[in-house]
Amino acid sequence: TVGKSLLVCPPHPAGALELCPAVLFFSRPRCSGIPYVPQPRDKSVSARSVISFYNQSAIDIAAEKPSVRLTPTTILYAGKSPDNSHILRSAQYLYKELPVRVAHRIRDFRHLPFIVGCNPTILHVHELYIRSFHLLSEFPPVEDFESEEKYTKLVKDLLDDHKDVVTLLAEGFRESRKHIKEYKVIQEFLDRMLTSRLGIRMLAQHHIALHQEKPNYVGIICTQMSLKKIIEKWADFSRQVCEYKYGFAPRVRVLGHVGVVFPYIPLPLDYILPELLKNAMRATCEQHSDNPVNMPDVTVTIANNDVDFIIRISDKGGGMPREILEKVMQYHFTTCGSEMDPASENLDGLGTMMSAMNDGPNGAGPMYGFGFGLPTSRAYAEYLGGSLTYNTMQGIGTDVYLRLRHIDGNYESFRI
Ligand code: ADP
Ligand code: COI
Repeated sequence: TVGKSLLVCPPHPAGALELCPAVLFFSRPRCSGIPYVPQPRDKSVSARSVISFYNQSAIDIAAEKPSVRLTPTTILYAGKSPDNSHILRSAQYLYKELPVRVAHRIRDFRHLPFIVGCNPTILHVHELYIRSFHLLSEFPPVEDFESEEKYTKLVKDLLDDHKDVVTLLAEGFRESRKHIKEYKVIQEFLDRMLTSRLGIRMLAQHHIALHQEKPNYVGIICTQMSLKKIIEKWADFSRQVCEYKYGFAPRVRVLGHVGVVFPYIPLPLDYILPELLKNAMRATCEQHSDNPVNMPDVTVTIANNDVDFIIRISDKGGGMPREILEKVMQYHFTTCGSEMDPASENLDGLGTMMSAMNDGPNGAGPMYGFGFGLPTSRAYAEYLGGSLTYNTMQGIGTDVYLRLRHIDGNYESFRI
């Protein structure tokens, strides 16, 4: 079972295999419960994944291979054949690519400092990846539509099994970061892990979406994406969350190049935009709680050019004090509920966005209050060939700039 396998340490980076007292200690029943623990569909696979901590040759071989990263343009214009052979080709690409990328993730888990790798929550995610590696790499070759259908079902199941990976990592690192002196180790691991995972999930969801006919979409690429519409969608969502939490929410005005429409992948924006909008709304609500009726709007300005597009989110939420400026982009830094103490254990105390999101009307994203919004959004933006920066005026408000490159093929873009 999953629980039992947590008693086994991943191999020490230096190669030593040990049973680790720290793991035995951490493996006691936990009162703070992991939000979601996927149960293995097949117990024999889980049992084998334990053995994989010891016997790693297949993973080692795959981890040595480079990943084959495609530009969105290549994906977009890969061609749609009437006989659906493009779906078969897409599955065959995934079939080769996913085990390699998953093996890279496993290699990174193995290189974590020993004390972090022993944390049961992190060990659990590590094990999820080992299990996925085996399921993906031992699947028979995809040669026809029958095997393609089965393979796609497996990919869907894995996406579902991994859906809480970010929450689990946030929790695992929060528990173990006190043991690590060098923050850089955590940052580099999480930046790589989260962006690589974004790439894996985009590829997998693209393949799944190729099966569906949706106007203006090729897989996950929207050929006519309206920035204004997507901003408005997430502004409505964030306002609901905010109202649920504070009883009121600032309005959002969208200005600038509001008419622009171009091909893009909405998926990463679906993560980044609500994070930034909620931050702006939270600051505004907390700054103007004595006069919510006259709360200043959050203003979103769009600027589009041939190479990239910029979204500026401006609030009058009082800005950030000097002492937190250096820290807001750090994983786990939050002023939610715990008096600006990044190492605090009390991150989901009352009055945080996190509780609103967990209990709220949408039952969505468990990531709020973990201090993951800004660093994750910045990592995603950089992965997408862009940037996330901010200017803040203490006492007035904050401007956050999200800059992303176009994927229309006219200029070089990122690779997934
Ligand atoms: P979280 O929202 O979970 O705290 P984030 O990484 O999104 O995590 O933000 C980290 C911290 O940065 C917040 O807790 C807050 O103190 C500060 N912050 C982010 N955006 C703003 C903003 N627009 N105005 C003022 N402070 C902000
Ligand atoms: C993830 O979402 O963490 C994944 O890597 C998914 C993949 C195993 C299909």
